[in-house]
Amino acid sequence: MLNQEKNELLTRVGRGTPMGDLLRRYWMPIAGVTEFERRATKPVRLFGEDLVLYRDLDGKWGLVDRHCPHRRADLAYGFPESEGLRCNYHGWRFGADGSCLEQPYEDVAHPEARMKDRIRITAYPVQEKAGLLWTYMGPAPAPLLPDWEAFSWPNGFRQIVLSEIPCNWFQCQENSIDPVHFEWMHNNWSLRQRGVLQPYSPAHKEVGFEEFEHGFLYRRVRGNGRKEDPMWAVGRVCLWPNAVFLGDHFEWRVPIDDENTLSVCWSYTRVPRESEPYVQASIPTWHGPIRDEHGDWISSHVMNQDFVAWVGQGRIADRSLENLSASDRGITMIRKKFFEELDAVAAGAEPKGVLRDPDRNHKVELPLAFREILTGGMPLAELKAHPIFGRHLHDYVFQAGQPEPVARAYREAMGLDDGGGH
Ligand code: FES
Ligand SMILES: [Fe+2]
Repeated sequence: MLNQEKNELLTRVGRGTPMGDLLRRYWMPIAGVTEFERRATKPVRLFGEDLVLYRDLDGKWGLVDRHCPHRRADLAYGFPESEGLRCNYHGWRFGADGSCLEQPYEDVAHPEARMKDRIRITAYPVQEKAGLLWTYMGPAPAPLLPDWEAFSWPNGFRQIVLSEIPCNWFQCQENSIDPVHFEWMHNNWSLRQRGVLQPYSPAHKEVGFEEFEHGFLYRRVRGNGRKEDPMWAVGRVCLWPNAVFLGDHFEWRVPIDDENTLSVCWSYTRVPRESEPYVQASIPTWHGPIRDEHGDWISSHVMNQDFVAWVGQGRIADRSLENLSASDRGITMIRKKFFEELDAVAAGAEPKGVLRDPDRNHKVELPLAFREILTGGMPLAELKAHPIFGRHLHDYVFQAGQPEPVARAYREAMGLDDGGGH
């Protein structure tokens, strides 16, 4: 249980808030590169700021204020030039660094005034990695964008799914260190959705939590499981500050504002050995719907089930009304760590896990269960029979709404000749 003041500290992310200041010290994934195959600009809202992401004609990325500093026109309708983005109202042009490069009328009629030298637009750096576009909205100098090992695994089909979730980011992130929900929200609720009343899935017998450089590990023993099993021996990664890494996928929870969160899922599915070598030309990005045709939350897929939990907690969960139990020890640990980090950043210290040494930012390894399978692959027959990876072979299990062209490319990558059935 937390009082309102502490709840606000964890949840408020606007400019000048302690949590906003902390999270802005990290690179955040905000879009997929392939989204720009069909558009030149994309309006985005991040940490309560309305911005426009664009690629100029020379291929350089920019992220600037949504509104032109001249008379506030919407730069999402601007057009990229060989350098920078031009406002479609009176043609002012801005560079990716926020400088004003051109004011067509002023430059001709009053060149001596050089008014453009006095104009700046808010601008944040953008980098491309793993098919994602990332931004850093904190103070200079920016740290390094983490080069997680999984980003360079070969022979896999990668895909990116974006969804906007109408609730605060922190309740999403608390889900990243909540082992017991897996038994109920995913296993048992899925059974009930299929009409199965019993038996329920193996119960959690023990959970463990531990901090490491890039976050926290959570461990579990279920049913007749043992501590030698990967889910205890290796555990799962609650990735600092706003993600989870589950071996075959990452999920980031990026604050749009205090009451909305961008869910970014990057997943990797290793192709069967028979389909190697597999080289993916580009990583598709698609938007995952969160409501069905009746307006109800979709609950058929793992992450959609999580979304139901998050939005069900309210736009901003009221932690003064909760009753934490022994299974919530990990949640208490991350809250405590966040409070420490808020103080540390306010005192001018470097926050947890920030990478600045290029020698330490090369294929950075995270604790990884099933490492041999993910990095070494399996023959098709073994893959089909595998209790975890087998169910990934035909369907995208994480989120509903995968577009058919992505499903088709996936089946081709897996070498499945299934006549187009999905
Ligand atoms: S409002 Fe953008 S150039 Fe005038
Ligand atoms: Fe979950």
